Amino acid sequence: MITDERIASYIDSFNKDYAPIIMSIRREAEENGVPIIRKEAGEFIKLLMLMNKPENILEIGAAVGFSAIFMSRFLPPGGHITTIENYEPRIKAARENIKRVQAEDLITLIEGDATEELKKLSPGYDFIFMDAAKGQYGLFFEEAIGLLKPGGVLLCDNVLQDGDVLESRFAVTRRNRTIHSRMREYLYALKHNAGLETAILNIGDGMSLSIKKNEKW
Ligand SMILES: C[S@@+](CC[C@H](N)C(=O)[O-])C[C@H]1O[C@@H](n2cnc3c(N)ncnc32)[C@H](O)[C@@H]1O
Repeated sequence: MITDERIASYIDSFNKDYAPIIMSIRREAEENGVPIIRKEAGEFIKLLMLMNKPENILEIGAAVGFSAIFMSRFLPPGGHITTIENYEPRIKAARENIKRVQAEDLITLIEGDATEELKKLSPGYDFIFMDAAKGQYGLFFEEAIGLLKPGGVLLCDNVLQDGDVLESRFAVTRRNRTIHSRMREYLYALKHNAGLETAILNIGDGMSLSIKKNEKW
């Protein structure tokens, strides 16, 4: 973790509990080693949703459905979440969790690889949450931006790679070097894209927050 563990715990001590079912799904995911959004990332997403009221949300990387279920609690009336997952055991768990919270009408789970599935979707998303394989963010990027409405928001999780991204490539383990260089390129591309305004934030494992400029800007 990049943020001091004690600071994160201190901040978390102010957070209120969510509904027992939400707490259970988080706990089960953590016990099973499923990587889900950290609590501070969840608090940030909640505020973004309450401020922006996105009606049409796309998530890349559902895992067991925790973040989609969490976001569904803050959807404006008529809002909907589409989420993509390609790992069979997690797809099954996500379906079960979505059913447990009776959110089948609010969340559509697409089974498949995001690089293919994104091409099949129609533009018009207000908010895209990218939380899949870090090394693939660059592959999802063009499609994701094309799917986003002008003024829409792209939020990417885990962009600071547990702090590795700021180290020299020789300081990171050999198996993390590809992700390291791809993430650096991705962050550069986000910050230098003329159609976006992006902030890179030290929240959780690092998040990038981009807004797609509209014609008026
Ligand atoms: C960090 S987890 C997602 C966590 C989830 N958003 C949450 O917070 O509850 C990333 C997930 O993305 C999935 N994934 C990775 N690459 C993918 C791809 N190309 N297409 C679809 N899913 C992918 C992984 O199987 C994994 O379950």
